[in-house]
Amino acid sequence: MKNLRKNNQRDIEAMIKDNPCISNTFKFWVMGIIFMIVIFRLYIVAYYSEWNIVSPEILLSAVLILIVYLWIQEMRDRRRLSMLNINLMAIKKKLEENEINIISTLVLTEEAKDPYVKGHSKKVAELCVIISQDMKLEIVKQEIIYRAGILHDLGKLGIVDVILNKTSSLNDDEWAIMKKHPVRAVEILNPLTFLFEEKEIILHHHERYDGKGYPGGFKGDKIPLGARILAVADTFDAMNSERAYRKKISKDDILSELKRVSGTQLDAGIVNIFLDILKKYPSIWKREM
Ligand SMILES: [Fe+2]
Repeated sequence: MKNLRKNNQRDIEAMIKDNPCISNTFKFWVMGIIFMIVIFRLYIVAYYSEWNIVSPEILLSAVLILIVYLWIQEMRDRRRLSMLNINLMAIKKKLEENEINIISTLVLTEEAKDPYVKGHSKKVAELCVIISQDMKLEIVKQEIIYRAGILHDLGKLGIVDVILNKTSSLNDDEWAIMKKHPVRAVEILNPLTFLFEEKEIILHHHERYDGKGYPGGFKGDKIPLGARILAVADTFDAMNSERAYRKKISKDDILSELKRVSGTQLDAGIVNIFLDILKKYPSIWKREM
């Protein structure tokens, strides 16, 4: 991460070197010369009007040339600064993407260790995009929900394998630890000063539509839309994959369960959209997309 920052620092320094702006001191000097010419001319006219050293036309032309020169330089400087700004924004975006990729790789690598959850986050993220596209959400929103999908279980990184891979039901203490994973994920992501919407979605992906979820107990449309979409995708993929504590559930049972929890655990509107998507694209049932 430090090397990345150093490389970007070097890019910025090179960009500034390649796009030098005229210094303010130089501009003040030119303005000073213009001022001196005017004062000189006024002084001559006032006290030595009989002298005809330099014609007023020549002085006026000199002043005009200097003013035009200053104006052209100012325009060029503004253009250079706006180019520099665009490049800086691109570098900032690249840096943010690199940071997201590093964290995503961490999540995917951790998942890869467990055959039962291997590929879960990626599959959930892809399902989120399919649902978002069907709902005609903006591309920017689709990207946000995709990133939230990839990172939604980041908080599980701190949970011991004994709890994560337990084949029997979790006891109350273990559930309490497990339920902290959305908050934990946001705590891990908080040092990043972007991903605001992603953090909101991740924090609320275990809320229930009837308000009985966690951590906020949010109800209905109070739950961010991205979190409601993520909840449908997450619930489906959890049922559609084998887990350490149970076999894979049949298609019919998954469909029945989605319909059963529609309107209570999950947003009914999004479940209906997803059921239509499942009919249209049967390949979604395949665990590897
Ligand atoms: Fe989760």
